[in-house]
Amino acid sequence: MDAFHYDGNTLYCERVKIKDIVSETGTPVYIYSKNAILTRFNELKTAFQEVDATICFSVKSNSNLSVCKILADEGSGFDVVSGGELFRALKAGGKPSKIVFAGVGKTDKEIQYALENDIFMFNVESIAEIEHINAAACRAGKTAKVALRINPDIDAKTHAKTTTGKKENKFGIDLIVAETIIEKAKAYTNVTICGIHVHLGSPIYSADPYVNALKKITMFMEKCRNAGINIQYLNIGGGYCISYTGEKVIEPKDYSTQILPFAKEMKCRVIMEPGRFITGNSGILVTSVIYNKQNSHGKKFVICDAAMNDLLRPALYDAFHRIWPVNTSVAMPDVETPDTSVAKQGMDLVDIVGPVCESSDVFAKDRAIPPVNEGDLLAIFSAGAYGFTMSSSYNSRPRSCEILVDRDKYIVIRKRETYEDLIAGEELV
Ligand code: LLP
Repeated sequence: MDAFHYDGNTLYCERVKIKDIVSETGTPVYIYSKNAILTRFNELKTAFQEVDATICFSVKSNSNLSVCKILADEGSGFDVVSGGELFRALKAGGKPSKIVFAGVGKTDKEIQYALENDIFMFNVESIAEIEHINAAACRAGKTAKVALRINPDIDAKTHAKTTTGKKENKFGIDLIVAETIIEKAKAYTNVTICGIHVHLGSPIYSADPYVNALKKITMFMEKCRNAGINIQYLNIGGGYCISYTGEKVIEPKDYSTQILPFAKEMKCRVIMEPGRFITGNSGILVTSVIYNKQNSHGKKFVICDAAMNDLLRPALYDAFHRIWPVNTSVAMPDVETPDTSVAKQGMDLVDIVGPVCESSDVFAKDRAIPPVNEGDLLAIFSAGAYGFTMSSSYNSRPRSCEILVDRDKYIVIRKRETYEDLIAGEELV
């Protein structure tokens, strides 16, 4: 059974009715399924078990402490991109020996913090950065383990704003520059280059970009080894897709059957950094309808109490999220895409929008949904990854609360912000 499913005309998360949660918490509210998170994590683990891959959950996709703790307890490591994410991973019980640190702009302070905590590895993105890590490690009297994040100039065929492995992207080190690092590796007295890292973008709906990148990396790996650099780890990053539409998409084993031969040939321990795959379809955002509005051109708007500040993906990437009433006798279509959304009998064709003062504050355009009234609840699906973590308090809207469901129980894992929270830290001068 899907973690989110309809039964008796109402939506459940595991065995809890969404409407029961909302009657306590109000809206907007993020609701996550603990067992969906665990299932997804273990699906990946199983697909890559032949090489006993180290899974480092990508904290940026969902950084709630309790979500991270579920994964830490299950044996996950963490992929962090800031001192703040490292702090969260450690607070959640993440083992430092399973934490990898990526990002093009690690500050000296962040590097020092990571060294103090003896993290597993830095994914290094430039010559300047490796020099700073070396200097920081010298000061700390430590040796830092690093993986070179290679930018292989591969098109991951995903949204332009979430593509990271092309030559025009700021991420990673191209192969020519990487070779120069290898040549002078001995000069980095307090750095051990022991890994190769690659992350191409997100979400990636085919194994091909990984294969194309790994072909290039195999050759580079050989050069490293010929130069006496002992590369022991291959970090293949994240990017594993989920279905936003209900359509079938490729699964972990479809990635692993294509990726594993390379890992075996390279004789490396595999690290991976999934985020969206684990949390994306493990969470929804629930919102209430504030008003129905129709203009004289026949355009209908459903105005709800969640907005782009709560879930930015539609405004930022034109991302498609399925939206359906929480309480309804009309079955949600199994598959829904922007093209399948046509007004059918008994359905309304509406724009579902939030109250924020931006024209891009639109969750769905011309979407067919059963007619809704003021106060009705709408579920926005696939919101567990890059939902709350990308939220803000723009328009001075307090950020939503977060709820975790475990079978027939639920718990508030982040309180709703208050107006007082909005001004905390500000001075009235
Ligand atoms: N590793 C690195 C180095 C990354 O930059 C990312 C994501 C991941 C792993 C995890 O990727 P995932 O498995 O979640 O696809 N805000 C965008 C996604 C940005 C992803 C940034 N990096 C969105 O909402 O689609």
